[in-house]
Amino acid sequence: MAETIRLTIDGKAVEVDKGTSVIEAARKAGVMPPHYCYHPGLTVAGNCRMCLVEIEKMPKLVTSCTTQAADGMVVLTRSDKVKKGVAGVEEFLLANHPLDCPICDQAGECRLQEYSFKYGNAGSRFREHRMNFKKDVEVGPHVVLDSERCIMCTRCVRFCDEVTRSSELGVFQRGLHNEIGIFPGRPLANDYSGNVVDICPVGALTLKEFRFQKRVWFIRDVPTVCGGCAAGCNVNLGTSENRIYRLTPRENQAVNGWWMCDEGRLSYKPIAESKRLADPESKGGAGFEPSRLPDAAAKIADRLKAAGPSGAAILASANLTVEDLWVVKRLAGAIGPALRVVVPERLRGKDDGFLIKADRTANRKGAALLGFDVDAGGGSTRALLDDVASGRITTLLAIAEDPAALPGGDRALAVLAKGGQLLTIDPFLTVSAGAAAVRVPAAAYGEFEGTYVNFHGRAQRVRRAVTPRSSALPVWQLVALVLQRLGATAAYGSAPDILREVAGAVPAFAGVTWTSLGAGGRALEEPGAGASIAPKGIPRGAGAARG
Ligand code: SF4
Ligand code: SF4
Ligand code: FES
Repeated sequence: MAETIRLTIDGKAVEVDKGTSVIEAARKAGVMPPHYCYHPGLTVAGNCRMCLVEIEKMPKLVTSCTTQAADGMVVLTRSDKVKKGVAGVEEFLLANHPLDCPICDQAGECRLQEYSFKYGNAGSRFREHRMNFKKDVEVGPHVVLDSERCIMCTRCVRFCDEVTRSSELGVFQRGLHNEIGIFPGRPLANDYSGNVVDICPVGALTLKEFRFQKRVWFIRDVPTVCGGCAAGCNVNLGTSENRIYRLTPRENQAVNGWWMCDEGRLSYKPIAESKRLADPESKGGAGFEPSRLPDAAAKIADRLKAAGPSGAAILASANLTVEDLWVVKRLAGAIGPALRVVVPERLRGKDDGFLIKADRTANRKGAALLGFDVDAGGGSTRALLDDVASGRITTLLAIAEDPAALPGGDRALAVLAKGGQLLTIDPFLTVSAGAAAVRVPAAAYGEFEGTYVNFHGRAQRVRRAVTPRSSALPVWQLVALVLQRLGATAAYGSAPDILREVAGAVPAFAGVTWTSLGAGGRALEEPGAGASIAPKGIPRGAGAARG
């Protein structure tokens, strides 16, 4: 067990492990000094000089990020001496900083603005010309550098050295001419490059996809979970006027630390850009005709029932929430216990040993815990689609899955289009939805709430941030309508209602409630599961992660 020490910071007593820095002890005491270069996920650089504190018996101010706390230490973070020192540092940092705030994307969440307001002087004594550097330099596919705004904290350089271990960024030139840059022919193209934008305390690094899109004070952050892969990184969905503008990582030390990957960060884009299904429709003589939702649900129920458990089957996505899948399970039970339900495998790329998982679905673990056939290896999906192609299965309900995109799906779709029944519940106008007999629009990521279980068995809440522009509803609500038509009692009012039922019926979810999941989720008590801790970065020797 680590030895503990006691010190006082601004009169508050605090107890920390021996070896803790003064800034970390101050954070624990709730009196965090201003700082630029310090980041809890990176090594200490001690170069910005902003975190100055006064320590009893020490003649000069010291930087709290580079000073170890000691037993009995008395620290002041807001004495007159500290205020004067910090204001001086701020004045130096602003000496060359352009007055870009009105057009800077960082404005509103800029540390330089924040600390100038809190700790800076009202005026500047500098009369010299400010240094000029090139602005708007694309240093990678997603990141733009404006060197004039850089305060040389080196957080971005350390991130690439220590977390992605790809070292694309470096400090070039000397003294006043110091500049962040890339090496010739080596763009900032690692799989996590967007994180440098998040950790840049000023507007020197901005995200190409978010630049000039929205002033940040109009953005409302909704805490949720990324649906891009099985890692389940905690994120904030930044929305404004019912539109998603960005995804940024949210700290969770049991999952993703402070980081997220670029693919996940930009995963909202294809959702917004894909063609959505607008209203329920069924195929008539003259093509697709609008259908009332209860009628479309009734058609789905009647056709599944007519085919029976041996002639019908369901393909359900591993991106459905626990609540969606639970109602799908009940639907399958209402048709007959022999009905085949497969959750197809969606593997892409490889596990990088850090955050990115080969399984690019959000809730395969949840589906497995609910007892679904999660099809490791793809054999069940292939067998099911072969049975559709050979006519053994005549009616297929695809829920947020596009059978046409699965191996063997082309043949199955051709047969269904001729005489079988393809029924789809999907947010998008997929190839399969184009060939369906009945198609019903579902809510997409960001438009529904529920629970995902990540690869490690951590149940986490995914939240609704926007409302669908069409008549789309969450999958559980649509499937419950189909269930009702089959005579089952399925009076679910909300996702928490369903989770309560799941917790009462599935041992892995025992005791799980909507509120117990909180902001950071909860590890399900599974045999063999231990406490998870976010890995610190790409494993050493794994090489640079390239996007
Ligand atoms: S670009 Fe941003 S993160 Fe990088 S050194 Fe400059 S201020 Fe720091
Ligand atoms: S690692 Fe997976 S869950 Fe995390 S941000 Fe990337 S895609 Fe999303
Ligand atoms: S935060 Fe301590 S020197 Fe920069």
